[in-house]
Amino acid sequence: MTKTIGILTAGGDSPGLNAAIRAVGKAAQRAHGMNVVGFKDGFLGLAQNRYIRLDDENLAGILTRGGTMLGTSRATVNKMDLGDGRIVDLRQLMSEVVEDHALTALVCLGGDGTARNAIMLSDIGVPVVTLPKTIDNDVVGTDVTFGFDTAMGIATEAIDRLHSTAHSHHRIMVVELMGHTVGWLALGAGLAGGADVILLPEIPYDVDAVAASIGARRAAGANFSIVAVAEGAYSIDDAATLADLTVRKSEATGDEKQRIKEELKDFAAQRRTEQLAIALSDRTGLESRVTILGHIQRGGTPSPADRLLATRLGTAAADFIADGRHRIMVAARGESAEAVPLDDVAGKTKSVPLDHQWLSSARSLGISLGD
Ligand code: F6P
Repeated sequence: MTKTIGILTAGGDSPGLNAAIRAVGKAAQRAHGMNVVGFKDGFLGLAQNRYIRLDDENLAGILTRGGTMLGTSRATVNKMDLGDGRIVDLRQLMSEVVEDHALTALVCLGGDGTARNAIMLSDIGVPVVTLPKTIDNDVVGTDVTFGFDTAMGIATEAIDRLHSTAHSHHRIMVVELMGHTVGWLALGAGLAGGADVILLPEIPYDVDAVAASIGARRAAGANFSIVAVAEGAYSIDDAATLADLTVRKSEATGDEKQRIKEELKDFAAQRRTEQLAIALSDRTGLESRVTILGHIQRGGTPSPADRLLATRLGTAAADFIADGRHRIMVAARGESAEAVPLDDVAGKTKSVPLDHQWLSSARSLGISLGD
């Protein structure tokens, strides 16, 4: 009997998703004689059984396209927000959809949130396989995620462009990069773009130390500076507040816990980058401007490296499925693609290790990391 696999894309979109859909789909069909269906809009579309058949025709011409041809959503399988005030557990429904299609595997393309959703489905018997995509590069167990290289390229170009205007106006240009709670994107693009200061969530910054490094550059004749700051970065004062809130949340119950959760949300929503730029101007006497790159980093055509990575991992996923494997993530390890147990991935975050070579390179170059 011909086997069928399903594919969905979940979480924030990322360059390389279409390349991965194409690779999984074509390899499953051509190398293993399987049928392929694609569910629309992530786990939400799975619950609603909204799908299309993927074939030679609709898998053609998508390699270079940004976004995802299937659509995506940030739905959570056991707490699905129906948009009408109801939040429901749809795992059983999803499992029935998978059974109705007699899927040999459900391939979920996503980051850490997707891995958490996938393992919850696996726990009730759904044969899941995930592929690591995200511009944040925060998925454990893989050398790198697809989407990261493209986003780093876009952010690097932005920093390149900020250089000339920073130089002309003798300004501090503070550029905020995505990355959620980790600093891979800011560090990678900051180094590649020659930023003078790079601030990451992994190293809480001291505003005075940052201002002093800009002052030292000025004293040496460079009266402009580029500050690359990760969206999740915060100061040492904020780090103390965050640590306090986190401890209080873990000890609290009921209404008090809810209150602390709200405080944590407010903490995350603070416009730290703008505040940092003002503080640096005040301390150095230089004008500052802020650029928030935002979703530009996620849009558009994937880089060749991301197309290649998505293609390698996608075809390998089809091979692992043909071998009967599931509850795995297909990871990049050196030159090969390996099956990593999903249990080793879900619920974990890959931060920048403090002894990472990118950090030591930055320090050797005299780039301020804010500490
Ligand atoms: O995970 C990718 C990412 O782009 C993060 O860098 C960022 O924090 C988040 O998604 C933004 O999410 P949304 O697109 O839902 O605003």
